[in-house]
Amino acid sequence: MAESITITDNRSGESIEVPIVDGGVSAEEWSKLLPGIWFYDPAFMTTAAAESSITYIDGDAGKLEYRGYPIEQLAEHSSYLEVAYLLLHGELPNAAELEQWTHEITYHTFIHENVRKRFLEGFHYDAHPMGILVSAVAALSTFYPEAKDIFDPEIRYKQIIRLIAKMPTLAAAAHRFSVGMPFVYPDNSLSFAANFLSMMWKTAEPRFDANPALARAVDVLFILHADHEQNCSTTAMRVVGSSHADPYSSCAAAAAALYGPRHGGANEAVIRMLIEIGSMENVPDFIKSVKEGHGRLQGFGHRVYKNYDPRAKIVRNVAYDVFEVTGKNPLLDIALKLEEAALADDYFVSRKLYPNVDFFTGLIYQAMGFPMEMFPVLFAIPRTSGWLAHWVEMLDQETKIARPRQLYTGTARRDYVPLENR
Ligand code: ACO
Repeated sequence: MAESITITDNRSGESIEVPIVDGGVSAEEWSKLLPGIWFYDPAFMTTAAAESSITYIDGDAGKLEYRGYPIEQLAEHSSYLEVAYLLLHGELPNAAELEQWTHEITYHTFIHENVRKRFLEGFHYDAHPMGILVSAVAALSTFYPEAKDIFDPEIRYKQIIRLIAKMPTLAAAAHRFSVGMPFVYPDNSLSFAANFLSMMWKTAEPRFDANPALARAVDVLFILHADHEQNCSTTAMRVVGSSHADPYSSCAAAAAALYGPRHGGANEAVIRMLIEIGSMENVPDFIKSVKEGHGRLQGFGHRVYKNYDPRAKIVRNVAYDVFEVTGKNPLLDIALKLEEAALADDYFVSRKLYPNVDFFTGLIYQAMGFPMEMFPVLFAIPRTSGWLAHWVEMLDQETKIARPRQLYTGTARRDYVPLENR
């Protein structure tokens, strides 16, 4: 028997049976029975805003899949560019497709000289790199005005290539500018991750070859951050994209959402927390204060995962690979002690609070020399492919403009009072 729910309007006694399809019930059916009665759901806690075939999360089981492939397998065997292709095309590329895709991305890494010279250099010397990135991505729409033609397949494809390709260049440029270092041009002979590291760290040497273990670690972190279904920034992408804005403007909106500390800034909060704890002996007291309601254990808990975040398990292993090269981040011991203490404590266990992806990523980025301001930027680079995959999916579904309703709680109609009578 098909599963369904029955809704009864107690004012009229009328009922309607709504089938449960793919774990949801259609709001369209609801509004047939109850026109003008809005479903009140702030923060979309119980709303499925889209049908999507890109990413699957089972939060109770701690599972994450891109297009059906478990994240663990992709992190072990794949590369970020292959994953970006998978997210956008729905299938893994064959060898020829991957070569073509890699070639196209590699040859679109340069940014227009005016973006760098006139635009990026116009920022204040201490501008936050994420602020620079958000603005630079939006500015790209003025350099590629044809991008507005979002229903032309070739034009759409070209902007997707450009956005994925230019993100590391803009990100590294934002960093170099914010620390007063000269811009480094992309090196097309390097892999996606190695090229990014070259643009970040190159100084006087003719060619910067990143340590392969570090380049691989960055690539794995890019895979893990490439998509996470309807998160805050992806929702921003879809909402802005639903107005048929060009992809640069929509991506800038998504990046702006990622700028917030509740989304892209949690790993920075973890580092600040570990610094504040200061030493392993202080861990029990810190746990005690969290349990008493003084702040939260940063990097723990997740809206969807009620189990160990599968990405956190992978990141934990990546951390050891990185520390072999960079030396151990001195904050690691505090982090491990904290994790051990929390996982053995009923407060955290009963609330299903486990480490999330951000618990260890900050430690890795910091050991590699990235300043904390770059953490959300490092998130935005790979998430661009996820944002674009959702944008394409949405446009192909011919969705309407996103336009929720409200429950008005303000004053009833009243007449204007002239200033002298107030
Ligand atoms: N430390 C201590 N207690 C916590 C934590 C935490 N990190 N997270 C949740 N709780 C407690 C809450 O106090 C609440 O307890 P109560 O029932 O006694 O009131 C209970 O667990 C449920 O918490 P909610 O806030 O309702 O959970 P929600 O799903 O809204 O929040 C969130 C999820 C925001 C991630 C939360 O767990 C948190 O603040 N974590 C720390 C910040 C963090 O790591 N964010 C990164 C998320 S991953 C990402 O964005 C890439």
